[in-house]
Amino acid sequence: MRVVESVAEVRAARANAPGPIGLVPTMGYLHDGHMSLVAHARAECATALVSIFVNPTQFGPAEDFARYPRDPERDLRLCERAGVDVVFAPSVSEMYPGNHATYVEVEGIQDRWEGASRPGHFRGVATVVARLFRIALPDRAYFGEKDYQQLQIIRRMVNDLLLDVDVVACPTVREPDGLAMSSRNAYLDEGARQRATALSAALREAQRLLATGNRSGPDLAAAMQRVIEATPGVELDYAAVVDPATLEPVEIVKSEARALIAARVAGVRLIDNAPLVPTVL
Ligand code: PAJ
Repeated sequence: MRVVESVAEVRAARANAPGPIGLVPTMGYLHDGHMSLVAHARAECATALVSIFVNPTQFGPAEDFARYPRDPERDLRLCERAGVDVVFAPSVSEMYPGNHATYVEVEGIQDRWEGASRPGHFRGVATVVARLFRIALPDRAYFGEKDYQQLQIIRRMVNDLLLDVDVVACPTVREPDGLAMSSRNAYLDEGARQRATALSAALREAQRLLATGNRSGPDLAAAMQRVIEATPGVELDYAAVVDPATLEPVEIVKSEARALIAARVAGVRLIDNAPLVPTVL
């Protein structure tokens, strides 16, 4: 496995590597969710490339950029064990030289849900991912459904800018009790960790209600809200039933929709989502 820090080194490694090339963009502190993306890339591509970069432009001024968990040595061990060919771990100045002035905005979809709570977040995500795509020139890039809005924004960007990369979505990896794996789970103490299962429980409640025949988007969203409200110490940010591509709220679930949820547990903001598939009568 090669570990490189500069754009020039990735370009050189890429030029000599067999295709197809698979890229897994991450912010490190790798867990089984990230590693499932790596496993998909490893299985489907001749060359598997992982980027590890805590991207400052996607964090708001009051957010956790400085204290975001980092463990580069462990990350490299996990990548090595998973058969990764190249790890790209650039510095902030390598990714954003002093004269960097160009940002990618995916209008509309970037402003709802996560975007409403985290202004500028998706501008930072789209910009860094576009840059990673231009640096590594991957044939395929792997993203988790865990960050569902991010996935749809990347898809939109790839379409709109005619970027020559296949975006591959991988299902959310969960802890045995349902909690979606996340680097930010490391912030939760024992009690908060328990209460955090309310998010996935709320999603399952929406799926259960849909299976009883209730296709009302607002009803399903209200059911998720009730599960959160019944859990002391968990504060809802949003619970919504949305179109899976545009992320606009859905009144009636006629075809597949997506349930989205975000909540704060002991000051830690967590997100989750799940498919809502109406059964054919
Ligand atoms: P990060 O949070 O490190 O996540 C990297 C990738 O792993 C994302 O595609 C994310 O959706 C996926 N992932 C995280 N938890 C997962 C889980 N439990 N199951 C499946 N996939 C999971 O998302 C980012 O970094 C950044 O925004 C990035 C795209 C790297 C741009 O900076």
